[in-house]
Amino acid sequence: MSWNQGQVTDCSHLLVFAAWDDITPERVNMMFDLTNEVRGFRNEGWEAYRQQLLGIVGARGTEANYQAAARQAYIGLGIALVAAAFEEVDATPMEGFDPEAVDAILDLKSKNLRSVILLPLGYRADEGDWLVNLKKVRRERSKFVTEIK
Ligand SMILES: Cc1cc2nc3c(=O)[nH]c(=O)nc-3n(C[C@H](O)[C@H](O)[C@H](O)COP(=O)(O)O)c2cc1C
Repeated sequence: MSWNQGQVTDCSHLLVFAAWDDITPERVNMMFDLTNEVRGFRNEGWEAYRQQLLGIVGARGTEANYQAAARQAYIGLGIALVAAAFEEVDATPMEGFDPEAVDAILDLKSKNLRSVILLPLGYRADEGDWLVNLKKVRRERSKFVTEIK
């Protein structure tokens, strides 16, 4: 399902980041109710935000809601990349796969999830990897970051 890319076939662990296929009123309410339960109180501002959010997700539709959820999955991906680097574990974020095939393998549809991005993890091989000693390529900071003074 990822065109035999070596990272997927050779890695020791493969993380699949998945996101809700929609942000339904039930899912919004589940999180707001859970927050109230954990914190042990209801707050007027928080409840107004719940209503605002219910309006937004209701109006924009399933695919836009999935896209928003998928962007949030990338937050988890970013943290996982940094955590892996900290542990000196190599990681390759990958979008080169067939999401529907992965969803089918993992039965994600029954969980109302869609796969977003893969993250193979593993310790690098001692030999046979021509990329391992190549310089990292990074654009100059000045060409990447805009500083407004
Ligand atoms: C969103 C995204 C999708 C990617 N998909 C693939 C992929 O399917 N296959 C692949 O070999 N590399 C893919 N890459 C590139 C690798 O992750 C790439 O090796 C890495 O970003 C380079 O990181 P480095 O410069 O720190 O070594 C993808 C990168 C990103 C950010």
